[in-house]
Amino acid sequence: MGPKLFLTGGTGYIGGSVLHTIVTSHPEYDVTVLLRNVPTSFSDRYPNVKIVRGDFDSFDTLAQAASEADVVVRCGSSNHEASLDALIAGLLRRSTPGFLIHLSGTGIVSDYYVEDQLGRLNPKVWSDLHDVDTISSLPDYALHRNTEKILFDAIAEHGDKVNIAIMCPPGIYGKGLGPGKTKSAFVPCLVNEAKKYGRVFYYNEGANTSSWVHIQDLMQVYLRVIEAAAAGGEGATWGKEGYYFTGSQEVAHIDIVKAAGDILKKHGVIENPKPIQIDLKTLDGMLPHPRFPYLARYMFAANSRTRPERAKKLFGYSPSGPGLLESLEEDILVELESS
Ligand SMILES: NC(=O)c1ccc[n+]([C@@H]2O[C@H](COP(=O)([O-])OP(=O)(O)OC[C@H]3O[C@@H](n4cnc5c(N)ncnc54)[C@H](OP(=O)(O)O)[C@@H]3O)[C@@H](O)[C@H]2O)c1
Repeated sequence: MGPKLFLTGGTGYIGGSVLHTIVTSHPEYDVTVLLRNVPTSFSDRYPNVKIVRGDFDSFDTLAQAASEADVVVRCGSSNHEASLDALIAGLLRRSTPGFLIHLSGTGIVSDYYVEDQLGRLNPKVWSDLHDVDTISSLPDYALHRNTEKILFDAIAEHGDKVNIAIMCPPGIYGKGLGPGKTKSAFVPCLVNEAKKYGRVFYYNEGANTSSWVHIQDLMQVYLRVIEAAAAGGEGATWGKEGYYFTGSQEVAHIDIVKAAGDILKKHGVIENPKPIQIDLKTLDGMLPHPRFPYLARYMFAANSRTRPERAKKLFGYSPSGPGLLESLEEDILVELESS
């Protein structure tokens, strides 16, 4: 029997893609997933994957499954603290060091909270080789900082007992590979606000720029880190320096909305394809969210520029998927057909 893996978030866009990638690349791995709802065709599609029923608040279930796994791949909500605590507690029960591969996101380095920066290009490009000290001490209001703090504390306290890697993808696009959700977050948000507003839009200069990655390129990096863990760790970096950006390109918001405007016009969703400048009040009225009032600033007006230097150095990471703008029409059509 191969190494034992335990994965959470297996019905999600990212976690489902990771599950599919692991199972198809390594049928010899002994894979268990946490599911709160089991998709109807799950066991037909993945007959050898074991299911543990529970949710992210099922502390004992998570801790027990983690204690029995060599490698825990934590997908699903990046911000859920209790589930992360449970998985770490479980891994610490093992007699030999296990591995935890945690899903974070480049929201951690987003400048969405700096009002003067919104809609303008921020010159800062973050490196996962040279900026980890800064990233590991960002203020508490940085996105995903709550869980990254737990991870960096665990590394400081138990780095000899558990090997931790933090996967930090930027905005992801392209069709997911898994058994549940196959759509990412950004395109549905943009399309729905453009439909409501009747136009595509930008704030300030629209020059805010973020990194992006196609889901299949992200899977290249996941696979290499998981394979390294399954083989005992060699070939990847763990602990504080085990931090992985994965972006394959940077795109300015204005270029996304220019392309989206043409696509939405072509498919009869809006009449005028030209992006229109909006004011801050209009921006803040978009994407209402109970726990994140600045979601629209984050999605449409912030910068988050990152380079995947570690994956390039360790694995020769060479993204080959279509670019965001090449994939945009297909992703928009998927959204239009399902909404
Ligand atoms: N998509 C992106 O572009 C992107 C980029 C970087 C980082 N991220 C971060 O990555 C995380 C996952 O993103 P995603 O796009 O994969 O999300 P998603 O498609 O919504 O998937 C969420 C997954 O987590 C599971 N889940 C959520 N709450 C749960 C709970 N309380 N108990 C058990 N399972 C639970 C869901 O299960 P059910 O099927 O049962 O609901 C699903 O499997 C998010 O925190 C996001 O901020 C996303």
